[in-house]
Amino acid sequence: MNKEQIFTIFGGTGDLTFRKLLPALYNIEAADDKELSARIVVVGRRDYTSESYREAARGWVEKFARLRFQKETYEKFAGRIVYYRMDFTDENAYEGLDSFYKKMQAGSHIFYFAVAPRFFSAIVKGLKRVEGAGEGKVVIEKPFGESLPAAAKLNESMEAFFKADHIYRIDHYLGKEMVRNIQIIRFANPIFSHVWDAEHIECIQISAMEEVGVETRGGYYDHSGALKDMVQNHLFQILTIVAMEQPESMAVEDMHREQIKVLKALRIPEDISEHMVLGQYEGYREEPAVNENSTTETYAALRLLVDNDRWRGMPFYVRTGKKLGTREMQVAIVFKSPAEGVEPDILNIKIQPTEGVYLQFNIKKPGETEELSQAKMDFCQNCSLVNRMNTPEAYERLLGACMRGERSWFSQWDQVEISWSYVDEVRKQYRQKGLPAYGYRQGSSGPEEAERLLKSFGHRWFE
Ligand code: BG6
Repeated sequence: MNKEQIFTIFGGTGDLTFRKLLPALYNIEAADDKELSARIVVVGRRDYTSESYREAARGWVEKFARLRFQKETYEKFAGRIVYYRMDFTDENAYEGLDSFYKKMQAGSHIFYFAVAPRFFSAIVKGLKRVEGAGEGKVVIEKPFGESLPAAAKLNESMEAFFKADHIYRIDHYLGKEMVRNIQIIRFANPIFSHVWDAEHIECIQISAMEEVGVETRGGYYDHSGALKDMVQNHLFQILTIVAMEQPESMAVEDMHREQIKVLKALRIPEDISEHMVLGQYEGYREEPAVNENSTTETYAALRLLVDNDRWRGMPFYVRTGKKLGTREMQVAIVFKSPAEGVEPDILNIKIQPTEGVYLQFNIKKPGETEELSQAKMDFCQNCSLVNRMNTPEAYERLLGACMRGERSWFSQWDQVEISWSYVDEVRKQYRQKGLPAYGYRQGSSGPEEAERLLKSFGHRWFE
């Protein structure tokens, strides 16, 4: 790549840009890789100059960048940022943007849509007025659209303007170190791969618990909710990696093929009330830009069934929520107990904030006794500074991949389509049954009703 690559962020004053994109781009700058060098054009409506924007961005980078903040690196990085003030929903404003790019002698483009999906079409429309934009790459954030038909329409309009292989649908969970590690843990270890099925596993639990609320993102989130914001994309990606058959090779295309088969095998439940619980934290309706009568869920727990030979009958529990008592993302594999009263073996893949693996198994208590106790082996990968320094943060990894033109760790349209149809259907059934988003206390572990999903099957959440 040459110096003329322009990385434009639409939604440059939003939470995602400050919290994730700029820190990731700063880390990329610190690595000083010529191939990844780009000028950054930040598009926003707010009244910043390039100077004041760089100043505002500084604190966020200092707080959120993986690498230690260094003044010289930041100055070099900030020198690449230009703030361009415009209303990206105003089609005519793109003529100004076109002239601006011409003055910059822009070469190739990467456009990052860090905005709610309802604005994607307006930006695509506007970019038609920018010379060479259609040749560029575009990175879009989930959820892609707001329902399956809307997503399909959106995809069509994007593909009519950008080349299909220039569209990067980012799912930053695919950039997380321990998500990438799942298939190694599974397939490179016979002690796990030989027992990875419904015959040996009692249940699998995927949890993504967050302490944060909707913060400044109420306007987006209230149209979305936990099912579309977390389950349909991030958690389904993880579930399909955990459940897929061994791909022919480690190449991501092969993995993708196997993931699709799992999505297709997801069974729509007969009685949704036994399979899904939605919740809303107390105080959510008072959050900025949230409707005062909102029924949007900030918590979702699902009991999912994958109808294939490997998994038939075994539940996958998936849960995610905001304003919970802890921030923790993990995949717990609970094996079948060998006899009544004996604790199950548990393999817990910790995705964040701790990256590591926990293994619990039975052992004899020391001394003159035949009683059992549990050995708890806890491996923490990111406790080592060297490992931390060598592990790129998810956005950093994926933005770098996009700049290099590597598409494999991005979501593909067929995945998005099947996930949408599943989520649309369960949501519809939930509504038809008149089931609510149950209230839950901030700082708790979610609505009590979520326990019901597991209890009636003799299971409990692994904490
Ligand atoms: C985003 C969601 O995709 O992922 C947010 O829109 C959520 O609502 C975030 O907070 C969680 O990401 P991470 O990397 O902090 O687990």
